[in-house]
Amino acid sequence: MKFFIDTANLEQIKEAEDLGILDGVTTNPSLMAKEGISGKEAILNHYKTICEIADGDISAEVLSTTYEEMIKEGEELAALHPNIVVKIPMIKDGVKALKYFSNKGIKTNCTLIFSAGQALLAAKAGATYVSPFLGRLDDISVDGMNLIEEIRIIFDNYVFDTEILAASIRSPMHIINCAKIGADVVTSPLASILNLLKHPLTDSGLAQFVADAKKMD
Ligand code: G3P
Repeated sequence: MKFFIDTANLEQIKEAEDLGILDGVTTNPSLMAKEGISGKEAILNHYKTICEIADGDISAEVLSTTYEEMIKEGEELAALHPNIVVKIPMIKDGVKALKYFSNKGIKTNCTLIFSAGQALLAAKAGATYVSPFLGRLDDISVDGMNLIEEIRIIFDNYVFDTEILAASIRSPMHIINCAKIGADVVTSPLASILNLLKHPLTDSGLAQFVADAKKMD
C-alpha cells in the first residue's frame, strides 16, 4: 500500500519524506488556503516546491468546474512537473475531463467520491486514482470503510487499472482498515501516520532495554 500525505504544509511534507515512507502528496483548495497560498503564481510555485521536496505523484486540484476551464487549468498544472497528477472533481464535466487527460496520458485523481457508482464512472473514464472520502462519510454516520470495500470488489471484478486512493483519513485505524481491505493508497494527515508508531509496550520495553544497557557500561 502506498502512503501519501494529505497536506500543502511544506514542513510536514519534509518530515514525512525524511521518514522514508512517503510515496506522494495530495492537496486540495482548502489545504492550500490553510497555508495562506493565494493567487495563481503563488499556487503554481507552491506545487513546484512540493515536487522538489517529495518524490512520487503530487495531486494538484483544478479550481474550475467547467470542462473547458478544467482542461486549460489541468494542462497548465501538468506542465509544471512530470509528477503532477491533475485532481478533478466528480461532476459530469469532470468525467469528460478525466477521459480527455487519460487519452493524453496525463495522470488524474478523481476527488469527492462518495459512492461506488461515482468510482465506477471515474474508472471507466480512465482516472489514475479515485479518492473516496472516508472521514466525511463517517461524519454523517455512514460507514466509509464499506465504500472502500465496494470499490475494491468492483475494480477487481473488471481488473480496472484505476487505484483506490483512500482520502479524508482521520485516524491510524482508518489506515490499518484500508490496508486490510486492500486500498492501493491512503492519503493521510501526518499525525495519523505518526500515530501508527505508537505503542505503550514499545515505550516501556525500550525504557527497560536502555536501563539494562547502562548496567553493561
Ligand atoms: O484531500 C481530500 C481529503 O483527504 C480531505 O479530507 O479531512 O477535509 O475530509 P478532510
